[in-house]
Amino acid sequence: MLTRTALEALTRRPVAFLTSAWPWRSLAYLMAGQLPGVIVLFAAITGDLLPATPRLVGGAVVMVAALPLVAWLERERLRLVDEKPLGQVARGRQLGLAVLTVLALWWVDLLMILLTVVGPVLLILTPLVQPSVAPPAGAIASVAGVVLVPVAAYTMTAWAGGRGAMARALMAPLGSELDEVLRSRARLVDAFELERRRIERDLHDGAQQRLVALSMSLGLARLDLPDDSSVSRLVGQAQHEAKQALAELRELIRGVHPEVLTGRGLAAAVRDVAGRSPVPVEVVIDLDRRLSPAVEVTAYYVVSEALANVAKHSGASRARVTGHVRDGTLVIEVRDDGRGGADPARGTGLTGLADRLAVVDGRLSVRSPAGGPTLLRVEIPCAW
Ligand SMILES: Nc1ncnc2c1ncn2[C@@H]1O[C@H](COP(=O)(O)OP(=O)(O)O)[C@@H](O)[C@H]1O
Ligand SMILES: [Mg+2]
Repeated sequence: MLTRTALEALTRRPVAFLTSAWPWRSLAYLMAGQLPGVIVLFAAITGDLLPATPRLVGGAVVMVAALPLVAWLERERLRLVDEKPLGQVARGRQLGLAVLTVLALWWVDLLMILLTVVGPVLLILTPLVQPSVAPPAGAIASVAGVVLVPVAAYTMTAWAGGRGAMARALMAPLGSELDEVLRSRARLVDAFELERRRIERDLHDGAQQRLVALSMSLGLARLDLPDDSSVSRLVGQAQHEAKQALAELRELIRGVHPEVLTGRGLAAAVRDVAGRSPVPVEVVIDLDRRLSPAVEVTAYYVVSEALANVAKHSGASRARVTGHVRDGTLVIEVRDDGRGGADPARGTGLTGLADRLAVVDGRLSVRSPAGGPTLLRVEIPCAW
């Protein structure tokens, strides 16, 4: 699993955690938090230069003037212990956190640095900094200091992570709601997908079977009629129509939910769509495992729409679909040598794809200069 916060890092195996950058990032986070402390100190010193009453006023002015800077710093340094995007933050909330930092939090940060860094280092250096201590006792203190280092890494990361979570909660209490909206959109798509499958099943088991039966009955009826009678001709025509309807229905079912996708996976399904395209399509899909159903179905619709566009709009003589997974992202590209000029604003297909992709955190980009060629690129994060 991808680790995105210091708190998540704590749950990794000890060796993985201790050799990761997280303890260092936590230290950097706490150190950066000392700037407000420096400002408080500065306020106190400038205060000392003045007579009593202006002293208080002067100190307060320095503190208040520094608040926007502290607010900015709080937001920027959060990235050291929390990589999740923060989004829009209300100015007032950010300033509120700055006040809290200046008044209370910075010295807790300082305390943690003293406890987890200065403490073990002083212990390790006992024989050097305290020559008066007897050598065996000094050596024991050094060893204890070394043993404390990994423990201190945990303590420090835990505080920095908790402190970061507090900063996030104060700055962006709306974050959880945004997550929820996204999740319910994903639920909606799931529900939509279930509904598609139900329709597909109904069409397949109901309407399609009836049309097959109808076509057979018409065929049998025709056998009983004299060949050159007008009734026979009419029945023949009806049978032809029934077959036509059956073919259209099959095409429709395939569009609603591709059987081959669920059965044999993305690469096979893409080859299937490519095979039905009137423009010759070369397919190079390099996947050695199945992806999650949501990713597969989204990628499938992207390729279907892209190839439909190639056939409808591009005037291309050939097209190419490539796909592979790199660094946990499925990348699919569809290119054609047609006239270009694809513009999401002029239709509903490409914007519909972008909406679908948003649900799985994916991205769609199009490069299609007038005169061509057209390249459509899709990236979908996918854990193998
Ligand atoms: N491969 C392509 N080559 C040239 N033009 C394209 C291509 N794909 C899309 N377009 C243009 O971009 C417009 C938007 O595409 P799309 O959103 O899929 O809408 P549509 O419903 O018309 O297919 C199309 O109407 C077409 O003019
Ligand atoms: Mg289209």
